[in-house]
Amino acid sequence: MAIQKVGIVGCGLMGSGIAQVSAQAGFATVVREVSPDLVEKGLKGIEKNLARLVEKGTITEAVRNETRGRVKGVTSVEELKDCDVIVEAIIEQLPAKRELFALLDGLCPSHTIFASNTSSLTITEIAAATKRPQRFVGLHFFNPVPVMRLVEVVRTIATDPAVYEEMVSFGARLGKTPVRANDSGGFIVNRLLVPYLLDAIRALEEGVGSVVDIDNSMKLGCGYPMGPFTLLDFVGLDTTYYISQIMFEEFKEKRFAAPPLLKRMVLAGWHGKKTGRGFYDYSDPANPTAMSL
Ligand SMILES: NC(=O)c1ccc[n+]([C@@H]2O[C@H](COP(=O)([O-])OP(=O)(O)OC[C@H]3O[C@@H](n4cnc5c(N)ncnc54)[C@H](O)[C@@H]3O)[C@@H](O)[C@H]2O)c1
Repeated sequence: MAIQKVGIVGCGLMGSGIAQVSAQAGFATVVREVSPDLVEKGLKGIEKNLARLVEKGTITEAVRNETRGRVKGVTSVEELKDCDVIVEAIIEQLPAKRELFALLDGLCPSHTIFASNTSSLTITEIAAATKRPQRFVGLHFFNPVPVMRLVEVVRTIATDPAVYEEMVSFGARLGKTPVRANDSGGFIVNRLLVPYLLDAIRALEEGVGSVVDIDNSMKLGCGYPMGPFTLLDFVGLDTTYYISQIMFEEFKEKRFAAPPLLKRMVLAGWHGKKTGRGFYDYSDPANPTAMSL
């Protein structure tokens, strides 16, 4: 099957990045959000990223304009009905994802391949809401999508092997390095990363060190590009909270349980960089300062 048109659902942190790399790879790209404001916000983010690439001399003005011209923002799900592949990047909650895919299943032709960017749900439980589990995979990108080179391509026991290989190639066409993963909650990266991030919060709660000292320890002592609290703020504390709940439910292991401090911060609306506050305060985005928690 020749993939020509790609649909993305959700134009937040991840969906906007996925839409950008899809358009950069030459695909006609339609991205759906729930309101015109959110469509505009997502598209503005893409325009800003493309402008930065022009400034750095990575792409020309002409390429920027062509790329931008390939992305269409919409609020109606119906506009996704003629896509060859649809990648979902909406809120990390199973009922919302199942409802969306059940709707798309009724709208799209039988050849359309569905993919979820879920971080922690199993692909099987999302695909079960459709009548096409054989044409369903996980495509798990990393934040920020235009920069991070990995995509985990996830197969379930029901995924058609030909569809799976097509999605591995699609990941490569988006400029990513695909790795193959089976459908176990968190796949490869989050199975290892999530307990580490939650342990950093537990260390903070237990007074082992401050936000800044724990971040510096992992950066300078382990050579990580950023510390766990900076990374948590990038990922989104709400998203991390949902992920931990889902992984705890799946594995019933304490290492996946959400620490109370994470829950309190989510309830307070401190969702990290995207809301201006998390473990750091981003009032001055160039100089984040640690919150006193
Ligand atoms: N944040 C990360 O680092 C990261 C990394 C990999 C995967 N993910 C996964 O990607 C998904 C999205 O995460 P995010 O960080 O982009 O969240 P986000 O909160 O930035 O964006 C989610 C967007 O989806 C929109 N949305 C909700 N329901 C919708 C619907 N029915 N149709 C269209 N849009 C809808 C919301 O309005 C919101 O703008 C989640 O499943 C998350 O687990 C996140």
